[in-house]
Amino acid sequence: MSSSSSGSWNSTKAWIVHGIVAGVAVAAAIGARAYLGQTRKFRSRVVGIIPARFASSRFQGKPLVQILGKPMIQIFDNQSNPKDLVVATDDEKIRECCRSFGADVIMTSESCRNGTERCSEAIEKLEKKYDIVVNIQGDEPLIEPEIIDGIVKALQAAPDAVFSTAVTSLKLEDAMDPNRVKCVVNNSGYAIYFSRGLIPFNKSGKANPQFPYLLHLGIQSYDTKFLKIYPELQPTPLQIEEDLEQLKVLENGYKMKVIKVDHEAHGVDTPEDVEKIESLMRERNLS
Ligand SMILES: *[C@@H]1O[C@H](CO)[C@@H](O)[C@H](O)[C@H]1NC(C)=O
Ligand SMILES: *[C@@H]1O[C@H](CO)[C@@H](O)[C@H](O)[C@H]1NC(C)=O
Ligand SMILES: *[C@@H]1O[C@H](CO)[C@@H](O)[C@H](O)[C@H]1NC(C)=O
Ligand SMILES: *[C@@H]1O[C@H](CO)[C@@H](O)[C@H](O)[C@H]1NC(C)=O
Repeated sequence: MSSSSSGSWNSTKAWIVHGIVAGVAVAAAIGARAYLGQTRKFRSRVVGIIPARFASSRFQGKPLVQILGKPMIQIFDNQSNPKDLVVATDDEKIRECCRSFGADVIMTSESCRNGTERCSEAIEKLEKKYDIVVNIQGDEPLIEPEIIDGIVKALQAAPDAVFSTAVTSLKLEDAMDPNRVKCVVNNSGYAIYFSRGLIPFNKSGKANPQFPYLLHLGIQSYDTKFLKIYPELQPTPLQIEEDLEQLKVLENGYKMKVIKVDHEAHGVDTPEDVEKIESLMRERNLS
């Protein structure tokens, strides 16, 4: 084949070759190596899944809470989200609600322990085949469709990665908050580590106002084949100590692509957060 033709195909191929060569370096990561052999070229079929659980210790029935007169789960029903968007739930009321505004719903079991497991079960039950699953957190209604799109594109452009996610600038006042997860990445934008502690840690013992610390956002996308094995991977030491699921991915030698976005995180964790979201939506004319 002439080297001048079909530039984009050639560069995709180059990426894959590069990925496999780099993969050899982590020969210890048996799982990752087995995976690399099967990497798809294009990953063009994308589905967005919104895991929505009714029971929640902090906020019962959260997905159905009214935000400016609409149930929260409906706010994701946005033209600019992935064309295939499915709500995965264990609850009849949520199903009824989604049906009423025409959303696709898939029932998953009550035993799913987290959103990732729910996505994994949902993808098994969907008839259509997909290459990428975007896990859209149901409790962040103001996540911009551009961010969802961005992490999908990142995973498509990095065939050696099985997982992609987003970070934004960490506010200095959140530096020592263990509920704000920090992330460090390497020069090619792959995750090195996530922590509830401040990373990197300045030797002064204080946060450095000059350093561009990164805050991890909950949104993530996975290669579908990886999603099948993810819930089955045994918990790993760093994952257990930090109580962060995503560390299991890194500790097993898989690669994770991270994109930096400009986003103010506004999650709905308690009933009090609803009012904050509503006033923000009014400000942004999103009603
Ligand atoms: C839907 O997405 C578009 C494109 O980003 C955005 O401008 C619009 O505000 C969104 N609508 C809602 C209700 O979030
Ligand atoms: C960044 O990390 C990825 C995944 O481990 C690796 O393949 C890549 O070579 C690294 N890039 C740099 C510049 O270190
Ligand atoms: C640590 O933070 C201070 C500001 O708080 C900064 O001046 C310094 O360059 C940082 N790095 C080191 C190694 O001290
Ligand atoms: C979901 O949570 C369980 C229990 O905390 C954990 O063992 C499992 O690894 C998690 N699933 C995924 C896919 O991370």
